[in-house]
Amino acid sequence: MPITTCVFDAYGTLFDVAAAARQAASEPAYAAMKDCWPQLASHWRLKQLQYSWLRAITGAHTSFWEVTQNGLDWALDAVDLAGDPALRQRLLDLYWELQAYPEVPDMLKALKAAGKQTAILSNGSPDMLDGAVQSAGLGAVLDDVLSVESVGIFKPDRRVYDLVGQRFGCAPDEVLFVSSNGWDAAAAAGYGFRTAWVNRAGEPVDRLPWFPDTILSDLTGIPALAEV
Ligand code: LAC
Repeated sequence: MPITTCVFDAYGTLFDVAAAARQAASEPAYAAMKDCWPQLASHWRLKQLQYSWLRAITGAHTSFWEVTQNGLDWALDAVDLAGDPALRQRLLDLYWELQAYPEVPDMLKALKAAGKQTAILSNGSPDMLDGAVQSAGLGAVLDDVLSVESVGIFKPDRRVYDLVGQRFGCAPDEVLFVSSNGWDAAAAAGYGFRTAWVNRAGEPVDRLPWFPDTILSDLTGIPALAEV
């Protein structure tokens, strides 16, 4: 089956989730972040994801915005910066305008020029995703932005991946699903999508029952992969 539809995870895949901490650390008001921002960014991301999984398996769904704030509070505590409410607010504000990775606009343009359908499929709340898509100027090269909020559970629940077929009327093996999260790419492969894991950091592959079809170091190879 040719690939008709290319679907992207949002945070960490199209949008650089470390950008908020990196940016705040460069601002004079938040000099306390200068050395610890990479650690804060890493704790923030890991806790945000852990909380999403824990809420999914316990049936205690909430918005991704809530788990993003909960993860940040844990991370600020871990680096002894929990007593700075202005920093907390600055980091949260920056999360609504995360930078896209540099190759993202041209990569999406190339997919559209090749006649592919393009979409985001994300844990993000619709308003968060809208903020990020608008601030990165990606609205014209995405056919849709699908949020887990319409099913009320986070990835990797299968009902989330079902949203792609429901929206585009395509079979799973017509979909190229792209994620920088190894667990997301693996679960999507288990679901039946063709998958690419964008492994920018050169991490080891996740030991799960499923494996991504392709591993890339950035998104520039996606248009060629979608033609295979
Ligand atoms: C998302 C998170 C998992 O965008 O990165 O769904």
